[in-house]
Amino acid sequence: MSHLACKGGSPVRTDRFPFWPIWGDEEIDNLTAVIKSGKWGCLHGTLSDEFEKKFAAYQDAKHGILVNSGTTALKIALTAAGIGAGDQVIVPAYTFIASASSIIEAGAVPVFADINPDTYNMDIDNAAELITDRTRAIMPVHFAGRPADMDAVRALAEKHQLVVIEDAAQAWGSQWRGSGVGALGDAGTFSFQSSKNINAGEGGIIITNDELIAKMARAHNNCGRSQDGQWYEHFYFGGNTRITELQSAVLMAQFGRYPEQMKIRQDNMNYLNEQLAEIAGIALMAQDERITSQSVHLFIFRYKKEFFAGVEKSLFIDAMRKEGIPTSPGYSIPLYKQPVFQKKAFGPRGRTIDLPIDYTAVFCPQTEKACYEEAIWFTQNVLLGTQEDMDDIVEAIDKIKTHADEL
Ligand SMILES: Cc1ncc(COP(=O)(O)O)c(C=O)c1O
Repeated sequence: MSHLACKGGSPVRTDRFPFWPIWGDEEIDNLTAVIKSGKWGCLHGTLSDEFEKKFAAYQDAKHGILVNSGTTALKIALTAAGIGAGDQVIVPAYTFIASASSIIEAGAVPVFADINPDTYNMDIDNAAELITDRTRAIMPVHFAGRPADMDAVRALAEKHQLVVIEDAAQAWGSQWRGSGVGALGDAGTFSFQSSKNINAGEGGIIITNDELIAKMARAHNNCGRSQDGQWYEHFYFGGNTRITELQSAVLMAQFGRYPEQMKIRQDNMNYLNEQLAEIAGIALMAQDERITSQSVHLFIFRYKKEFFAGVEKSLFIDAMRKEGIPTSPGYSIPLYKQPVFQKKAFGPRGRTIDLPIDYTAVFCPQTEKACYEEAIWFTQNVLLGTQEDMDDIVEAIDKIKTHADEL
């Protein structure tokens, strides 16, 4: 009989990794207090206001504007920064759909750049090649919590007078050269959706040091109102995308626990990086001293099948799962290859809206390699385990490699 669990052998482990979300009395007490106060909306209570200030300060920004999701945060950040119809915005092809769909929502045109395989963040040289006289903004995504090369982003933005909107949906507490991400460009956004390291079920925030962007973001989030106008006076175009005090109650509690959890994930990331460096065929993300803190929303490595008897990524993932290790293939389709982009189905009921760009002609080789062949993810709850849990991950990879010819 084979040693591999997928062939009838014993798995490396049967215990579960930590369950997410993690909560305690703080969430329950905060929620109870909000319910009993009768002030359930952010316009009436004080918690949302307090959280905005705390989180903005944590990321080294002057202003924070809570909204109902990370997707909404991106759309509002773009609009508040003046991006609109006909503007081109450069965004990586390897990210969550919201990075690009928010650009469409803002009326602008996403232009896809490839990623650097050593970081899985935007390849800034490729971004530079995509600049035209319509390019108005660049959206670095701090993917997995790893800060993008903000020196390069800012140099490119300065040279071409581009607005910088950082998609920091996965990067709470991440720092570039000692400064919080999200506040390194014109505006930055974060997500508090269920899978995220700070979780309110849903939610998002825009942070900025720019007074006008902050003012406009508040207006777009709150029906186009101005802070000094009358209640039924609407100066700008806007919707109701506000958060509730119930979500802010949970955010407060989650945020209190966050630094300790981030440290556990970081220690485990460093440990895994050390251990996996010993296994040929596992390519790790590059080290960069300019990254002074990393949130670790995902732990990522690149799988090289030639070191695993030619076993395809999907089969390797299957084998890992059978060994008891929750292993994810990550994004399986480059954004430009998503049906919505291939067909430009941006209108109601999928109707085509013919933006002046042909997504069927886009080809980002490193993104395709990540999606189809190499990227392997462990989600943040896995990284909350013990060192012994990390040892099980290493043991499972080692075991599959040793017996790869049986797959
Ligand atoms: C990189 C990135 N951008 C944006 C978002 C959108 O956030 P939300 O799910 O809160 O709308 C996410 C969430 O998964 C994300 O991972």
